[in-house]
Amino acid sequence: MSESAAPVEVRGLVKRYGELTAVAGVDLTVEPGDVYGYLGPNGAGKTTSLRMMLGLIRPTAGQVRLFGRDPQVTVRALEGVAGFVEAPRFYPYLSGLENLRMMAAFDGGDSRDRIPSALDVVDLADRAKDRVGGYSHGMRQRLGIAAALLRNPRLMLLDEPTTGLDPGGMRDMRELVRRLAGEGITVVLSSHLLSEVDELCNRVAIVLKGSMVYEGHLDELRRTAGAGYRLRTTDNAIAERVCRAQPGVENMRTSGAEIHFSADEGTVGELSVALVESGAAILALAPEHATLEELFFRLTEGEENGDRAPVALERTA
Ligand SMILES: Nc1ncnc2c1ncn2[C@@H]1O[C@H](COP(=O)(O)OP(=O)(O)O)[C@@H](O)[C@H]1O
Ligand SMILES: [Mg+2]
Repeated sequence: MSESAAPVEVRGLVKRYGELTAVAGVDLTVEPGDVYGYLGPNGAGKTTSLRMMLGLIRPTAGQVRLFGRDPQVTVRALEGVAGFVEAPRFYPYLSGLENLRMMAAFDGGDSRDRIPSALDVVDLADRAKDRVGGYSHGMRQRLGIAAALLRNPRLMLLDEPTTGLDPGGMRDMRELVRRLAGEGITVVLSSHLLSEVDELCNRVAIVLKGSMVYEGHLDELRRTAGAGYRLRTTDNAIAERVCRAQPGVENMRTSGAEIHFSADEGTVGELSVALVESGAAILALAPEHATLEELFFRLTEGEENGDRAPVALERTA
């Protein structure tokens, strides 16, 4: 495999099922060492995209290259590549260890020697002799990662690895993803959770209804989004009017008892004075870390309105 080629290069990727376009032209590049977030709501086409990347289904159009090789043309493209879509599959009546041994036998090479360390990494060593049928969802996901590790991958593709897990399971899985990245494995991870991608990934592609609306660095995306704030007052009806009237307050929306908006600090200072004068007392006015959430909301809103939200998003492809 080519040493200089990117772990993943996807160009113009399309998948149609009859009338339905599941993936409508995706371009992305994953660089070595990336923890790359493939972010989008349910039905956006994440699993379908990952299936094409793993060579499990054939694209209607476009190309996938893994380290420079096309998985449709040669199974050797999958050397050094591992992962699973939706959920890993195991024989429930066999133990975790027996399942891994079967896979190692199928893979050949020195896969079998890696079983103990793989079980350690995913923290399943002491449950390895129990039947998989008795494993929790989180344990099965972790066994899926152990199975992927048997192939000594340089690239791991994980489809919503935390979906369906309880909070503890999610935390363990995120910790595990960080550990994989720490060992130098390039990771592509799909998710519908902004907070998760924000926490784990250095780069992100945002997909909506099969189309990519952003690819790039999270920092850049945050800069584009501007600083976000949340505001709670004793009278939000007045506060909304004040916000609307305040020059520099942008992207205002109300969610529950809070008003969210983006602005620079100077504007926020002026706004707080205007609020006091209006009679709406400030209960909370705080910067929001989750500007990505805000941005995503705007992107989604633009989709629903049938046009793109007025956010200056650059397509880097
Ligand atoms: N094998 C298939 N046949 C027909 N439609 C499919 C198939 N797989 C996925 N789809 C449709 O393609 C769209 C994208 O699905 P999917 O890739 O699973 O999205 P995500 O993983 O982002 O939730 C959905 O509308 C889904 O119903
Ligand atoms: Mg999916």
